[in-house]
Amino acid sequence: MNANTPSVLARIDADLDQSLTRLFDLIRIPSISTDPAYKGDCARAAEWLSTELAGLGFEASVRPTEGHPMVVAHSKAATSGPHVLFYGHYDVQPVDPLDLWTAPPFEPSLITTEDGTRAISGRGSGDDKGQFMTFVEACRAWKAVAGSLPVNVTILLEGEEESGSPSLKPFLAANRQELSADIALVCDTSMWDRQTPAITTMLRGLVGEEVEITAASRDLHSGLYGSAARNPIHLLAAILAGLRDESGRITLPGFYDGVPELPAELKDQWQRLPFEEKAFLGEVGLSVPAGEAGRSVLEQLWARPTCEINGIIGGYTGEGFKTVIPAKASAKVSFRLVGEQDPDKIRDAFRSYIRSRLPADCQVSFKEHGGSPAISLPVDGALLGRARRALDEEWGKETALVGSGGSIPVVGDFKRLLGMDSLMIGFGQNDDRIHSPNEKYDLASFHHGIRSWARILGAFATA
Ligand code: BES
Ligand code: MN
Ligand code: MN
Repeated sequence: MNANTPSVLARIDADLDQSLTRLFDLIRIPSISTDPAYKGDCARAAEWLSTELAGLGFEASVRPTEGHPMVVAHSKAATSGPHVLFYGHYDVQPVDPLDLWTAPPFEPSLITTEDGTRAISGRGSGDDKGQFMTFVEACRAWKAVAGSLPVNVTILLEGEEESGSPSLKPFLAANRQELSADIALVCDTSMWDRQTPAITTMLRGLVGEEVEITAASRDLHSGLYGSAARNPIHLLAAILAGLRDESGRITLPGFYDGVPELPAELKDQWQRLPFEEKAFLGEVGLSVPAGEAGRSVLEQLWARPTCEINGIIGGYTGEGFKTVIPAKASAKVSFRLVGEQDPDKIRDAFRSYIRSRLPADCQVSFKEHGGSPAISLPVDGALLGRARRALDEEWGKETALVGSGGSIPVVGDFKRLLGMDSLMIGFGQNDDRIHSPNEKYDLASFHHGIRSWARILGAFATA
C-alpha cells in the first residue's frame, strides 16, 4: 500500500459529512441534458464543478461546445507516474413521471430504504453525480493529506451523456493532445452486489432511432374515415411488432452479423457468479422470462443484442375519449449491440425494413439518436491488476470481472480517437433505480467508493 494511503482514508472518513453536503449541492442543480429548458442549469452545473475543481488546485475550465459544455481539469503529480484521464457525466435523465417520486427529485436527502440501507436520494445521485464525485472527493483527500495527487490526473466531465454525447467526438478529436493519458477511468457502472466490487470489462453498444410515419394530411373522424383511411398507429404497431419473432430473435436481415458465441471460458466464469434468475425478475415484479430461448439471463444481458421500443407516440392520449384517426404516429427504438455488430449497418437495416413495409401513400422520416459499437476491454493490464487489488482490500471481497448490458459510448471513443483503454469501476447497485423515479445512491457506495479511488490512486503510483 502507498505510504500516504492510510492517512488519506482517515481523512475521507472524517470529511464524509462535508463530502455529502457538496454532493447535495450538485444534485440540486437540475442538469437535464435532453430538455432545452434546462440548458442554463447544465451550464450552472459545469460552472459549479469547474469552481470546485479549481478550489482543489486543479487547472480547471468550462469548455463550450455546440451543446452543453465540458469541464476539463488538470493536476500535476509531484512525482512521475502514470497519467490517468477520469471521465464522468454531470447531466441527468428527465424526471418523468414526476408523480411517482416520493420526494422532489432535485431535493436530495439521506434516506433509509425498506431493508435498512442508508442512501442518498435524488435524480443523478446514482447516475452519475454521486458516482463521479467519489473520484473528486478522493482527489480532495489526497491533496489535503499529501499536498498533491500521487499520479497525474486529468478530469473530463461531460454534460450530454444521457442524450447521446453529440459533442463528445468532435471535442476529443480537437483536444487529442490535451486529453490523452495512459488509461481512462470511468465511474458510471455497478458493483456485482452490495458486498462485491466489480470491474466492468464488456458493455453493449447502442443504436438509437426515432421513426415517424405520416398517413393522411390531417387527423380524421374515425367513424367517417375508419377502415377506408390508413391508421398510422396500426401500421407502426404492426411494423414494430415484426422486429422480433416468437423466440425473441430480431428479424432484421444481417442483424446477427458479428455476434459471437460466448467463449466457453467466459460462459463458465459467468455461470459461477452467484446469480438468481428468478430473484432478478422478481425484484421488479416479474416472473416470466421474455428473452431469447436457451440463453441464461446474464448471457442475454451481457452478450446478446436486443431491440427495445422505448416510447410510442400517437393519437389522442388525454383525458376521456376521442374517436380519431391521427395523421401521424412515431416511436423511439433502440438496439443494444454486442461483438462486432456495426451500428451504421443496423441503422440502415432498420430504415430499409420500415421503408419496405410502407404503403405508397404514407411517408416516413427518421431521426438519429446516437450509435456506438459494443466494447470489450483487456482483462490482463497491469493497472487493472493494481486497481483490482485495491478494491479487494477496501471491500474485503474478491473483485468480480463482469459485463454489463448498459452502454457508455465514450469508452469506445477513447479507444478509437485517443488510443486509450478504459477501466470501468463503479459503485452503483441494481436497485438504484437510475433513469427511474426515486433514484438513489447507497451511502456505503459513496463512502467506500471515495475510499476505493483513494486506494487505487495510491496503488497506481507505487512501483
Ligand atoms: N451509466 C449508464 C450506463 C450503465 C449503467 C452502464 C449501469 C453500466 C451499469 C449511462 O449513463 C447510460 O444510461 N447510458 C445510456 C446510453 C446513452 C447513450 C443514453 C444507456 O445505457 O441507455
Ligand atoms: Mn451514467
Ligand atoms: Mn444514464
